[in-house]
Amino acid sequence: MSITVKQLHPYFMGEIGNIDLRQPLDKDTVDALSAAIDQHAVLVFHDQFIDDEQQQAFSRNFGDLETTVRAYRKDFVPRLDVHMADISNLDENNRVLPANDRRRLNALGNRLWHSDSSFKRVPARFSLLSARVIPSWGGETQFADMRAAWDALPDRMKSRIENMICEHTQIFSRGKIGFTDWAEEERAKMAPVPQVMVRTHPGSGRKSIYLSSHAGRIRGMEEPEARMLLLDLSEFATQPQFVYTHTWKIGDLVMWDNRCTMHRAREYDETQVRDLHRTTVSDGRPTVPEELAA
Ligand code: OGA
Ligand code: MN
Repeated sequence: MSITVKQLHPYFMGEIGNIDLRQPLDKDTVDALSAAIDQHAVLVFHDQFIDDEQQQAFSRNFGDLETTVRAYRKDFVPRLDVHMADISNLDENNRVLPANDRRRLNALGNRLWHSDSSFKRVPARFSLLSARVIPSWGGETQFADMRAAWDALPDRMKSRIENMICEHTQIFSRGKIGFTDWAEEERAKMAPVPQVMVRTHPGSGRKSIYLSSHAGRIRGMEEPEARMLLLDLSEFATQPQFVYTHTWKIGDLVMWDNRCTMHRAREYDETQVRDLHRTTVSDGRPTVPEELAA
């Protein structure tokens, strides 16, 4: 039996049916999912009641997994395995984080439009997010289609930005909401990394704008001009016609292509538990080759 794909938005978003992510998948199914995500950029699966091991096994069909950055603080006690990003409001004892907890304040940065791990030299290709517990209201995740946004840009803007190189770091993104609580050794590890502004998406041959909250500078441009251009582009690319809002149900898994989409989390009742687990497939190589990086 083969998978079904239903498009949920005029530009992107595929809803996948007829699949059980707890089981190992045959090559035809993995190929069909790869083709579906190349076309639709974001895939939504319902009723997938998987554990972390099953999620990792499914994710590995698409490449090597990222490990989470956690060695920064000696006092940090992770709740999940090193291959799982903890997208929850819980501490290591599964208690809701207090309002002033640094982990909560840092995670608020996920409410800015971003592409995962664009602050890493080798960024993320796919993210896979599985809903384990959801609050009674809010906490949607929004996605924006960066290929459709590129297509809609005026030609003069396309040629202006086509060969730009940006610099990304979490210090820029967290700084936008006034989060500056980094240890010295953290700062040292968070030096900006170069990323191209415009990518060609390999699976579709289409161009996309590679934007993210982590971007804060553009090479060869004065900082206010660079920041203003990034704000303008981000505002353009996240207009309602390019955006889809996913409202979570327990058992949903959403898989997105970070090369050609942005996403952000939305507000929710933070007295309630919101627990989602993410695996992240690395893109394998930098967007700016070594010889151009320095
Ligand atoms: C993520 C992320 C948004 C959300 O998992 O990478 O940004 O809605 N999540 O939690
Ligand atoms: Mn994210």
